[in-house]
Amino acid sequence: MRCEHPPGSGDACVTAILDVRDLTKVYGDTTALDNVTLSVEEGALFGLLGPNGSGKTTMIKSLTGQVRPSGGSATVLGRDVVADPVGVRSQVGIIPEQETPPSFLTSEEYLHLVGAIRKIPDIEEQMTWWFEYLEFGEKRDVLCKDLSRGTRQKLMFAQAFLHRPVLALIDEPLINFDPIMQEKVKDFLADYVKKGNTIFISTHILEIAEEICSGFAVLHKGKLLSTGRVADVTEGGMHLGDYFLSLVRAGGHV
Ligand SMILES: Nc1ncnc2c1ncn2[C@@H]1O[C@H](COP(=O)(O)OP(=O)(O)OP(=O)(O)O)[C@@H](O)[C@H]1O
Ligand SMILES: [Mg+2]
Repeated sequence: MRCEHPPGSGDACVTAILDVRDLTKVYGDTTALDNVTLSVEEGALFGLLGPNGSGKTTMIKSLTGQVRPSGGSATVLGRDVVADPVGVRSQVGIIPEQETPPSFLTSEEYLHLVGAIRKIPDIEEQMTWWFEYLEFGEKRDVLCKDLSRGTRQKLMFAQAFLHRPVLALIDEPLINFDPIMQEKVKDFLADYVKKGNTIFISTHILEIAEEICSGFAVLHKGKLLSTGRVADVTEGGMHLGDYFLSLVRAGGHV
């Protein structure tokens, strides 16, 4: 987290809110992450891109202490993800891939539960805001098992942000939303980072990544192919999607 350049050295110091060094994760005979090194600055909306099976979900799980890395290290908000996974999870918001809220609770009960765990004093106001913003207040008393997939995703979205985390990690934020909801969520994410928070997303929707992300990384077969600023790609006259395809196609022959 801390700047290592001496004062007056002339080097720009940026604060890394998320720092990954040589991170490796092996499942049996599959290397899901292969010596990945990357860092994410505070205030970034960072997009983790990569084809199916490239290691995006494994990265998010590793960064949130849900998967124990096989090698390397990672710090999130200055906390080591292996030594202090509970500390990391208490500070961040997480929306896991394709996960659903408990079937036996209503939306409102689930948000109350998260509010109690996160000790959110203004849980009622927070809940009301999210029910209105994502337009699912009429479903507050419906059991989660009876919600549509998109509404369950709205609920997962709300739970991640209820405690106003300085960092949120979201595995595919937009995939289950209709176009109107996608616009709302995009606006919310862009606004959230403008307030100084940081967001780390994995996504396959490269047009949206180009639109809202400031930084990106491309994974392919567990290896980091590229990381940098989205503006550096687009100012070079390329769309992020074309850049991604050229990288992955070339990477596929390595
Ligand atoms: N628990 C597990 N046990 C064994 N292999 C796993 C496990 N989790 C993931 N893998 C494997 O690790 C690799 C990376 O998977 P991961 O889910 O991280 O990819 P992804 O980039 O999120 O893919 P997608 O875009 O399809 O969501 C894949 O080959 C996957 O089959
Ligand atoms: Mg995934």
